[in-house]
Amino acid sequence: MIKIVFVDPTGKQHAVEASAGQSLMQVAVDALVPGIEASCGGNCICATCHCHVDPQWYGRLAPPDVLEQDMLACTNEVQPTSRLSCQVPLTEALDGLIVHIAASQH
Ligand code: FES
Repeated sequence: MIKIVFVDPTGKQHAVEASAGQSLMQVAVDALVPGIEASCGGNCICATCHCHVDPQWYGRLAPPDVLEQDMLACTNEVQPTSRLSCQVPLTEALDGLIVHIAASQH
């Protein structure tokens, strides 16, 4: 299992377990993590799954593609470590990943 820690804007941590192959968004939705709405179901057209990957982890992810970059440009609170969680597939190498939920998602 892969442990993911979502941190909400208040600093509260939501630790969840995931499996390789799941998207970061699906894990958050399944665990009812507040702030990950994912209204398009993972099709990269809503940006309601926006999150900030912890800087120590960001470089371990495959970079966002052009479509994701375009969608991120339309979101509030874009940071250098912003990602659309539906576009982040999980692997065993991401065990311990820390993800911050953008305050604007609440
Ligand atoms: Fe819609 Fe990620 S769920 S862009």
